[in-house]
Amino acid sequence: MSQRLVYFNGNFVPESEARVSIFDSALMYGDMAFEMTRTYNHRPHRLRFHLERLYGALRLLEIDCGLTIDEMEQATLQTLEKNIPTESDGMDWQIMHDVSRGPLGLYETVFPEGVQPTVSINCWPLITHMGTFAPKYDSGVELMIPAQQTIPAHLLDLKAKTRSRMHYRMAELQAARSGGKWPVMLDPDGFLSEGPGWNVFLIKDGVVSTPEARNILKGVSRGTVLDLCKDLGIELREANLGRYEALMADEIFCTSTSYGLVHAVTFEGQQVGDGKPGPVFQRLTSAWKEHVGLDFVAQAHDYALRLPDWLASQKA
Ligand SMILES: Cc1ncc(COP(=O)(O)O)c(C=O)c1O
Repeated sequence: MSQRLVYFNGNFVPESEARVSIFDSALMYGDMAFEMTRTYNHRPHRLRFHLERLYGALRLLEIDCGLTIDEMEQATLQTLEKNIPTESDGMDWQIMHDVSRGPLGLYETVFPEGVQPTVSINCWPLITHMGTFAPKYDSGVELMIPAQQTIPAHLLDLKAKTRSRMHYRMAELQAARSGGKWPVMLDPDGFLSEGPGWNVFLIKDGVVSTPEARNILKGVSRGTVLDLCKDLGIELREANLGRYEALMADEIFCTSTSYGLVHAVTFEGQQVGDGKPGPVFQRLTSAWKEHVGLDFVAQAHDYALRLPDWLASQKA
């Protein structure tokens, strides 16, 4: 039985008791901003960047969550502190923030205590995500372009990370039908945008390029790559990139908070480079490990070995 505690509207409650109403605007409209941060050695990575993005989304959605960003940071650190002792020392964490407008006013009579935004922060041991992901650090991933396109910013700005994600889900479903490849959506102008949970980078002649921050979520990990490129003196361009540029790339990789970065071995059925992690990708991976003070690839492989026992222990 889980000992984990969730921050829920100002209180800490057991994970299994944290409940969102069926009348919540999140359920009715996908009207919820969220964030996913991870820890490295128990330290939240770039938490302030994630919270700034969260508060940007809340501003766009016109939700006042009742906490300042400093208070949200404090609540986050407290939630993490309460959950760390529930696992062994080597366990790192996913920290999830979910903030909705709360129950719709139409149903206010169901809530005598009043209608207020729903604010939750939960921590989840990364062993499930990373233990399952670990083989991909070796095999790489295969990319394809799904029929589903991304939503352009003038219709709905994807820089706000919200739970309105059906177009991402459609892209995943289409990619699943192509044998587990990862989908890179095009925007309506035919340029590469992003995957349903990650940003994409191409490398040609030592220069790193990534779709400009127009029709994408500006990943915090994308920002980490930009900073690492600067530190390493690697040229970086934010540009409009198409299918052609991807097919001509020497290396391609994807970034996301949980796994950091992973290389692609094919794009639209064609091999990328020699099908192995390329030199620039390897340099960036080493720099990333140094930046976070942890060999997160080795950690994921260790989690993969421990995952069956961990799952069994959760059922006990
Ligand atoms: C659509 C989308 N793009 C990119 C990313 C990568 O963002 P980050 O690096 O902040 O995890 C995510 C993360 O969930 C995402 O949902």
